[in-house]
Amino acid sequence: MSSALTKPRLLTGDTPTGQLHLGHYVGSVRRRIELQDTYECFFLIANMHAFTTRSHEPDEVRSDCIEIVRDQLAMGIDPNKSSFVIQTEIPAISELTYLFAMLLPFNRVMRNPTLKEEIKVKGLGDTYSFGFPLYAVGQTADILAFRAQSVPVGEDQVPHLELTREVARRFNQMYCDVSDQADDADHVKLGGVFPIPAADVGTVGKLVGYDGKQKMSKSLGNAIFITDTEKQIKKKVGKLYTGRQSPTEPGDPNNVLFHYVECFINDQDRVAELKDRYARGDNIGDGHIKQEIAEAINKLLEPMRQRREQYEGDDDTIMDILKSGCAHAIEVTEETLSLAKEAAQMKFFDREVRYR
Ligand code: TRP
Repeated sequence: MSSALTKPRLLTGDTPTGQLHLGHYVGSVRRRIELQDTYECFFLIANMHAFTTRSHEPDEVRSDCIEIVRDQLAMGIDPNKSSFVIQTEIPAISELTYLFAMLLPFNRVMRNPTLKEEIKVKGLGDTYSFGFPLYAVGQTADILAFRAQSVPVGEDQVPHLELTREVARRFNQMYCDVSDQADDADHVKLGGVFPIPAADVGTVGKLVGYDGKQKMSKSLGNAIFITDTEKQIKKKVGKLYTGRQSPTEPGDPNNVLFHYVECFINDQDRVAELKDRYARGDNIGDGHIKQEIAEAINKLLEPMRQRREQYEGDDDTIMDILKSGCAHAIEVTEETLSLAKEAAQMKFFDREVRYR
């Protein structure tokens, strides 16, 4: 048996929005890189979800899909270990979305706090498309089509995972004779098609932007990009503001400067030493700490810049990587779909899906 078969399966995804920055690295990609060896990883690019609010700009959504793969490769995801998957190239996801939509009360879907928040924040009012709330059902299909056990996500995605767990339980109980008393962990052993997936939330970090105020985000103009030059990094890190007046003033080792120290300086002894001296005002200026932060970020970015250069302008390679990721995803998801259709008495024929 190949080792891939013995590894637990992991799926996570992103709605493509454009260039990745250090916030994405700290918040999710760094963790993905760590998990590549212990899990069979699928990283989904949710381009259908992007259409919930951007159906009028298909060209931009498409190029964002390519860029998000390019940036993740640059950050260190290894395409020989992990699969990148384009959501709209996986028919099982759409088919399961339709089926799961039948198993969920409409009002249950609309009660999802993440959906409600998005309607508010994006000012969608009552003009949102039918597909907007459907995306939450679609996300349950993204996860369950892969029969993923682990789903590393941020806090805001937890309601979607709850919905996913509910659908999986309902399906297994209704069509696979799994008892409604069964433990989540036992569903597959008892004949259920779907493992009940777990959100892996605790380990994802949040990076504050260099304005020191809000979460790092491209649209807020406080982001450090992996394409930034050494000079740009220095300038941006230089803007981290603490209000401290002199190198001998006792400082707060929980301020934004130390948020960056902890995110980017790996040597834990050095971090402890800096904190100690900062707190005591032991002749250590903010400027010096910024310099160490900028150096650490540049050291982190150096191999990323090199890989980014290697993939720059080479869309053919990105397309090849996507195609093999999708082909692997087709194997896994077609098997799931076949099992699910069989269980729900919807399967009449065998079929094969493949790309030309
Ligand atoms: N909704 C997620 C986001 O915007 C992206 C996403 C789509 C996802 N499908 C997923 C995340 C499946 C985890 C699992 O961040």
